[in-house]
Amino acid sequence: MQKIVSPSILAADFSNLQAACEMINQSDADWIHIDVMDGVFVPNISFGFPVMEAIKKHCNKFIDVHIMIVHPEKYVKRFADAGAQMLTFHYEAAENPQEVIDLIRKEGIKVGITINPDVPVAVLKPYIEKVDMVLLMSVFAGYGGQKFIEESYTRLDALKKMVEELNPDCMIQVDGGVALDNAAKLYAHGANVLVAGSSVFKAADPVGMIRRLLEEC
Ligand code: DX5
Ligand code: ZN
Repeated sequence: MQKIVSPSILAADFSNLQAACEMINQSDADWIHIDVMDGVFVPNISFGFPVMEAIKKHCNKFIDVHIMIVHPEKYVKRFADAGAQMLTFHYEAAENPQEVIDLIRKEGIKVGITINPDVPVAVLKPYIEKVDMVLLMSVFAGYGGQKFIEESYTRLDALKKMVEELNPDCMIQVDGGVALDNAAKLYAHGANVLVAGSSVFKAADPVGMIRRLLEEC
């Protein structure tokens, strides 16, 4: 499967999101990753619809939205209207994950499901055939700049096995602490979409870092 880097705007300078979008536009990244946090499902609050709409205005890449919110079912349409082309919700935050999947499908956009590092990957089994992407969190959702959890490789192996058996077209995304020192290993263990926040935006040359995450890994 094609390798994709999805730079996370959470690590950008929020006082100049237009510049961050333009950097991503001119880079080899195919996607942009947008993290929405509600202060309830996770302890942190990031931003909401108006900011997403501003990003949509300036970014011409595929809009990959990761929602860390309770009651995802209530907001599916709002996220689709705000520009989401892939909407990834947390299994733990949904009372009825199948209902959320159906609502996202109804909007005609791609659907992703994700779990935090303390949730067994086996819970995803009933949903693998129903989604376009599974996101394996390699840090606890809530903050950028955290250290990559090494146990993620074992979890990734188990997930890859399930995906191969049940839905080989399903993409596998990894999010949290992704950088040059682990990207190659993550691709080798079956990931094809890597989210990169701090490693890209704190780099002296973010466009060059995106290229390296694709070409050198
Ligand atoms: C964390 C977010 C991540 C975050 C990744 O809850 O889901 O997308 O932006 O940031 P880094 O790459 O800095 O770990
Ligand atoms: Zn994310």
